[in-house]
Amino acid sequence: MSRELKIEAARAALSLVQDGMRLGIGTGSTADEFIRLLAVKIKEGLNVVGVPTSVKTEKLCQELGVPLKTLDELPELDLVIDGADEVDDEFQLIKGGGGALLREKIVAHASKAMAVIADESKLVNTLGAFALPIEVNKFGLAATHQAVQEVANSLGLSGAIELRGGADEPFETDGGHFILDASFGHIPDASALSEKLLNIPGVVEHGLFLGYAKVVFLASSSGVKQLGDI
Ligand code: A5P
Repeated sequence: MSRELKIEAARAALSLVQDGMRLGIGTGSTADEFIRLLAVKIKEGLNVVGVPTSVKTEKLCQELGVPLKTLDELPELDLVIDGADEVDDEFQLIKGGGGALLREKIVAHASKAMAVIADESKLVNTLGAFALPIEVNKFGLAATHQAVQEVANSLGLSGAIELRGGADEPFETDGGHFILDASFGHIPDASALSEKLLNIPGVVEHGLFLGYAKVVFLASSSGVKQLGDI
């Protein structure tokens, strides 16, 4: 997606931000554009406080003067604005392409509403073309990998389940975990998969965000479409 479309989606989401709000601030290139626009509004006098969903977002907010608190200081948020890797027509999401899914989901859960900013290429009929990120504990990686494979088999899902970064230099999340990327192609029953994955002790979290998004801003060359509302 072009940078212009990310900026337009981010700008549209800014219309939901009201003075005094406690905001969850997402992670990724689209969320970065939102942070840049938010910082301008803050310089102009908007009074909001943000809780970042990653170390990367925290750094950008600090650089641009977006006031931050931790989720411990502000355990209830009014709104989180975040990007997504895929969105379906029920507003189910795949997130975690940037590896921030755990903090993103904790923040989304603590927020009264979630707004997604994306371009129209992220809208899909069925989730799964984007490999599903599954955050796993380092301990017992092989056993967890096998258990995830068994869950996939039980649901008739096939496709590679690979350690992000590879065995020599695995990608490490802000929480110090690894990520398995599951290239299922399509996930017809996201709820069933979610439930089964969360039953595996070594799975910390997965990138299926079900029931969180209330509004989606989808940018295309013909403008930004708002689906849903908060
Ligand atoms: C970060 O872990 C992800 O969930 C991002 O929100 C998602 O990958 C979207 O990123 P882009 O806005 O860069 O496409």
